[in-house]
Amino acid sequence: MNSTHSKIIAKIEKFEQLCHVLEFHKHNKSMLIPILQQVQEIYKYLPEDVLNFIATSLDIPSAKVFGVATFYTHFTLKPKGKYIIKVCNGTACHVKDSLPILDKMRTVLALKEKQNTTEDMMFSIETVSCLGACGLAPVVVVNEQVYSCMSPEKAEKLLESIIRNECEVKQ
Ligand code: FES
Repeated sequence: MNSTHSKIIAKIEKFEQLCHVLEFHKHNKSMLIPILQQVQEIYKYLPEDVLNFIATSLDIPSAKVFGVATFYTHFTLKPKGKYIIKVCNGTACHVKDSLPILDKMRTVLALKEKQNTTEDMMFSIETVSCLGACGLAPVVVVNEQVYSCMSPEKAEKLLESIIRNECEVKQ
């Protein structure tokens, strides 16, 4: 199977999951937020055409769906990388030098000033205010995996190991 084929199949599978979410919630417009949460889990972001489809399916104006999707910071309308890195910059992590960790990771990933996702869509990096694990500060989360007592050096090694694993998978 070539990569175009796999992409089409992945697209169809995601669309089927989207329809399943809408059916699960019985196309109930009052369930818009949980629907958006589940759909974002499927796509990793909320694509514009998907938001329009949700609006039509729930029989509500697109503007309302976009309004909700842009109001909550939890939702994102931009695609994110395969690995979503959250660097905690809450008080406990900040005082334990979380910002140098962020700087190091951005440098390793060669991200430009306003860029948060790498060109190859492999990594997205963001700061969060508190991950609720202050005793483990400074904390970094990669997808669902929590890394405690981080330092710039540990963060660099972590990225290197993810990149190495990705290269091995591709070979
Ligand atoms: S401040 Fe970072 S986990 Fe709470």
